[in-house]
Amino acid sequence: MTSFQKPTVLVLGVSGQIGGFVLEHLDKYPEALNVRITARRPEQVAALQQQGREAALLDLDNPTTFAAALHGVERVFLLTGYTVAMLTQSKTFVDAARKARVQHIVHLGVFGRWDCTDPHIGWHQLVETYIEASGISWTHIHPNMFMEQIPKFMRIRNDRFPIFWGPGRMGWIAAQDVGSVVATVLREGPAKHGGQNYWLSAEIAGGEELATIFSEVLGRPIRCDYKKPEDFAATMELTGDYSVEPWYAAGALEFLKQFSDGRMGDFGTVRDDTPYLTGEKPRSLRQWAQDHRLLLCLSISTDYGLPDQANA
Ligand SMILES: NC(=O)c1ccc[n+]([C@@H]2O[C@H](COP(=O)([O-])OP(=O)(O)OC[C@H]3O[C@@H](n4cnc5c(N)ncnc54)[C@H](OP(=O)(O)O)[C@@H]3O)[C@@H](O)[C@H]2O)c1
Repeated sequence: MTSFQKPTVLVLGVSGQIGGFVLEHLDKYPEALNVRITARRPEQVAALQQQGREAALLDLDNPTTFAAALHGVERVFLLTGYTVAMLTQSKTFVDAARKARVQHIVHLGVFGRWDCTDPHIGWHQLVETYIEASGISWTHIHPNMFMEQIPKFMRIRNDRFPIFWGPGRMGWIAAQDVGSVVATVLREGPAKHGGQNYWLSAEIAGGEELATIFSEVLGRPIRCDYKKPEDFAATMELTGDYSVEPWYAAGALEFLKQFSDGRMGDFGTVRDDTPYLTGEKPRSLRQWAQDHRLLLCLSISTDYGLPDQANA
């Protein structure tokens, strides 16, 4: 504890989508926790400190950075990126957290059923099992597909967007709601949330529902093209600005295949703990699309209907 008796929480991944929202939420409750954020380059740490942040150097690929970052920390938000390296990163980091006497790890995982056979879902499950075996109190967060994936992998071109998993309806959650849930759990701590699994899948929608929402929000007819899971790799190359390492990309492709053929049909389920944790209803896809209309517009390849900022 600090001199103010506030627990210190170490938050990873604040430069990314979920970690950014976690920090935004924690900033609203300055009395609750002493927040220490991390970055993996010294110049980034210095810049954050200049902004008045408590910041520590932490590179998950470099365990020599762990001890100082974890010094005096009671609670941790463990987020790893889109990489198979999450296995070694999490194993070494959890070992260090044990040595640092951390009391609670909140882990960002995935919406997988325990016996699923998809690789990247399996990696997250191995990490969760390792955390549980550490003896540190844990809370596992299981979000379904982030709505933020839409402009990345389902980019609208010439009024059409691709769906890579056939006619099934996928489960969705907004990154902002994942951030609010994680921050709430961190604030309220292990006494309330230790040993809990929380599931975040607010709504299900497939190509037809998404086409209806995009058409309404953009005010023009938008249609869905059903593609094969195998076409997904080409789309990733096409989008250009989003690179995923081959191991993780192969896991994502396997996920699309297994969702299409029904083996991972449980991802098309509404199962949502958000309101129980935050007291708020999670964002709907329609609400998310309205809030991110500009992002959707930017993903249209023609100029028609673009707001001024999008052309800047
Ligand atoms: N996309 C989905 O639909 C979905 C659904 C469920 C679960 N997930 C899970 O969500 C996680 C990714 O969350 P996100 O979308 O918020 O990721 P993100 O936006 O890509 O951000 C990743 C964050 O991790 C940091 N990071 C990466 N490598 C690091 C390292 N070696 N050491 C320290 N920090 C490192 C990045 O820092 P830098 O800025 O330095 O790179 C960044 O802050 C993954 O585990 C994924 O499996 C995703």
